[in-house]
Amino acid sequence: MEVYVLRLGHRPERDKRISTHVALTARAFGARGIYFDTFDKNLFESVRKVVKSWGGDFFIEFVEWKKLLREFEGLKVHLTMYGIPLPQKIEEIKKFEKVLVVVGAEKVPGEVYYLCDMNISIGLQPHSEVAALAVFLEKVLQKVFTLEFSDAKVKVIPCERGKKVIKNVDGKREEVFDSVF
Ligand SMILES: C[S@@+](CC[C@H](N)C(=O)[O-])C[C@H]1O[C@@H](n2cnc3c(N)ncnc32)[C@H](O)[C@@H]1O
Repeated sequence: MEVYVLRLGHRPERDKRISTHVALTARAFGARGIYFDTFDKNLFESVRKVVKSWGGDFFIEFVEWKKLLREFEGLKVHLTMYGIPLPQKIEEIKKFEKVLVVVGAEKVPGEVYYLCDMNISIGLQPHSEVAALAVFLEKVLQKVFTLEFSDAKVKVIPCERGKKVIKNVDGKREEVFDSVF
């Protein structure tokens, strides 16, 4: 299954950090790419920089959101605490080849509830778009613990203490260990 994310209501002056986390979470949990309804050059560049170093072909693009919701060929799922709990719909969602998952920043326009095929909750409490997206992607894709990017220039080697990475720049492979102390 291919999952795409639509981030609505990004405010460049206030949401840079959380929107970056939404995008990086989408990538790390296996989404193909993310659409924003606001163009934010700095944000887009910083996410593309991560993709360049850490690998893969995850995209970040500006889109006219109503057009995307009208034209997307697949299942459109809006994440909202007012929706139907994910466990009740997950089997239905998993039948689709392409899914667009929509998360807001502040209040999303009312039309979103009708333009999407499903309104889905991740618990019935208010929390965060990052948490909601992570839980949704992991329940649906189950990729976060196995995802690898073959063209990565930086790769983490898990270790009990400190930070160990392999850097592969211009064909030169270098192992770096930082004890952090
Ligand atoms: C900080 S919340 C803002 C909610 C806003 N006050 C409203 O009434 O729509 C930002 C986004 O996180 C997601 N979200 C937060 N809690 C959620 C939950 N329990 N289930 C699903 N999505 C949730 C929704 O996509 C929401 O648009």
